[in-house]
Amino acid sequence: MYKLNLPNKHHFLTEHWQKKPIVIRNAFPNFADPLDEHELAGLAQEEDIDSRIISKKQGVWSNTQGPFSDFTPYCIGDWSLLVQSVDHYIPEVKMLLDSFDFIPNWRVDDLMVSYSVANGGVGPHIDQYDVFIIQGQGTRRWQVGANKHHESIQPAKNLKQITGFDPIIDEILEPGDLIYIPPGFPHNGVALTSCLNYSVGFRAPTQRELLDGFVDYAQAKNLFNQRYSDPDISPRDSRFEIKASEIEKMKSMFMQMINSVHFDDFIATYFTETKDVDMYAADLTENYSLNEIINLLDNGVIFQRKLDTRVIQQKLRINDKYQTVTWVNQHRINVEIEHENMLLSMLNANYLDNQEKNNYANGLIFNQILARLVNAGGWYPDI
Ligand code: SIN
Ligand code: CO
Repeated sequence: MYKLNLPNKHHFLTEHWQKKPIVIRNAFPNFADPLDEHELAGLAQEEDIDSRIISKKQGVWSNTQGPFSDFTPYCIGDWSLLVQSVDHYIPEVKMLLDSFDFIPNWRVDDLMVSYSVANGGVGPHIDQYDVFIIQGQGTRRWQVGANKHHESIQPAKNLKQITGFDPIIDEILEPGDLIYIPPGFPHNGVALTSCLNYSVGFRAPTQRELLDGFVDYAQAKNLFNQRYSDPDISPRDSRFEIKASEIEKMKSMFMQMINSVHFDDFIATYFTETKDVDMYAADLTENYSLNEIINLLDNGVIFQRKLDTRVIQQKLRINDKYQTVTWVNQHRINVEIEHENMLLSMLNANYLDNQEKNNYANGLIFNQILARLVNAGGWYPDI
C-alpha cells in the first residue's frame, strides 16, 4: 500500500494543479520501489508494451523504440529506459498510481517507469500533460523553467527537446520525494546516480480528439441520421448565397447532437475504453450466468479487478432525484438508488469474494453486481 503524504490537497489543487510546479519532499516516507530495473527490462522485452531507450553519447542523442531482445547496442553512454503503463502489469505499481486518488480518476492516464544510469535523462523538454514524478531508488536533479515560449529541437527521431531554459526550480530529489510539473513548463531531470522514477500521467483531450471520438461513436451506434431540411426556404439575390440563418440551422443540428444524452454516453464510453475491450462493443455479451458466479464464490474463488479496468460514474438528475450511472470498461451498469453505495464499495474493494460478501447486507444484490462487473470485463475470477 502506498499513502501519499500531502496533507493539504485542497491547497495543492487551488495553488498548483495546472498552474505552478512544486517539489514535495518525503511525499512517500520510507518509499519502497514497487519493482526493480530487471523487472522493468523484462517488460521492455514484451511485444505489446510501449518502451524506449534514450541515450546520449559524446553529445549525440538517440531514441530507440522497444521491444528489446538485446539491450547492449542501445544502453550506451548516458541512458534511460522508459516503459509506459506499467500499472497495467504490476499490481504494486497500480497501488502507487492509486495513491493519487485525489485527482478525478477519469483524468488519470498511466504510470510510466524509467530507469536511468548516472547522467541519464531524456533532455530538456516540454510535455502537454500534467505529471507527478516520484523519485524511487537513487537521486536525480530536476530543473523546471517558466511556462513561456522555448525553441524546439529534435536531436533524434521522435525525440522532442528544447534548447534550454532558465530554471525556477533546481533541486535534487531523494527516494520518496515528488515533483509536480503542469503542462507547458519546461523541465529536465538528470540522474545523479542510477535511479528509478515513476511518472503519473494524465489525459486531457483536444477538441479535435473529442470530435474524432464522437464521430466514431456516432458511426458505431448509427446515430444522428436526421437530414437538413428547409420547407421555409427563402429567395435570394444570388443563387450562390448561403444565408447566415442557414448556417445557424446547421449549427443547431450540431448543438442537438452535443446536447443529446448520446454525448454523455459517448464521454463515458470514451474514457472507459481499455486496450482489452472492443471500442463501442455491441451490447454486453454475458459470459457468466448468475449461477456460475454464485458457484465460483461458494468454491472460495476470489474476483480481482483487472489492472487496466476503467470506471466512470455520472450523477444524473432524474425526476428530481440524483441517480448514479456507472460505466465499467464501456459497459453501463445500472443499480437501484438504494444499492448505489454498495456498488461504490464494491468498485473500491481490492478484491471480491465470499468473505467480502459478508460485509454487505444484501448478498443477492452483491451476486448480481459482481456478475455485471465480471461480464463488463472489469473483474475476473482468479482461478
Ligand atoms: C523520466 O525520465 O522518468 C521522466 C521524463 C520526463 O521528464 O517526462
Ligand atoms: Co517530461
